[in-house]
Amino acid sequence: MWQTIEESTNFLRTKISKQPEVAIILGTGLGGLANEIKVELKISYNKIPNFPVSTVEGHKGELIFGYLGNKYVVAMQGRFHYYEGYNMQEVTFPVRVFKMLGINFIIVSNASGGVNPNFEIGDLMLINDHINFFPEHPLRGPNDAKLGTRFPDMSEAYDKKLIATSKEIAQKLGFEVQEGVYAGVSGPTFETPAEYKYYRTAGADAVGMSTVPEVIVARHMNMTVLGLSVITDLGVPGKIVEVSHEEVQKVAKQAELKMAKLVINLLESL
Ligand code: HPA
Repeated sequence: MWQTIEESTNFLRTKISKQPEVAIILGTGLGGLANEIKVELKISYNKIPNFPVSTVEGHKGELIFGYLGNKYVVAMQGRFHYYEGYNMQEVTFPVRVFKMLGINFIIVSNASGGVNPNFEIGDLMLINDHINFFPEHPLRGPNDAKLGTRFPDMSEAYDKKLIATSKEIAQKLGFEVQEGVYAGVSGPTFETPAEYKYYRTAGADAVGMSTVPEVIVARHMNMTVLGLSVITDLGVPGKIVEVSHEEVQKVAKQAELKMAKLVINLLESL
């Protein structure tokens, strides 16, 4: 795997003028955050050697290099979901490349269903932990010690200091943020009411179909992680209604501005 990561990284290095400090994965409906980037360069995934190609609706499939706030960043507009059929190595491959590019800080965003009864549709949640419900683990198989340790610690996968700073920033900007545990599931079905209840009982505040694999791989390589989730629907008894990808995209889009402001202010505070 090392060689394929190196090949992709070297290709990107020939295109960009400087090394990004931060990587951002833009979740479903949150691609508009890219509009806030002063773009230096966009590269389609299909031009990058070894990159899988994004297929799902609402995802564009390109890397965007440029300034967000005062930081030079690379943003992934469109991620690779396990439910699309990619294996875990493909899902997490871009994170490997980001690290090899020299990036040590990653912001991972997503849309998710809230199972905490105190949550409302449109809430922003700072992810403070996760539960991995995916049927496959991205680190299963031989471990390359050049990438990370065989048995990575996960006691603080989501950086506590960044969560605290993000909360302060949200308060200053005048909006509420929630904090909680993200349950990562394979999808592509949304949950049955019994499943939502099960994830709540297991300790989750929100459930979604991404993020966990990328964060595991980021932590394998000792990257600092901030996770942000937009609550696009509620898996709470009495509040469960029919949910669609279109609705998820619509709500995420409405929360985009809040998320953009938070991320920009956070980047400027670092
Ligand atoms: N479940 C799983 N994934 C999701 C949901 C949900 O309710 N909403 C957005 N992504």
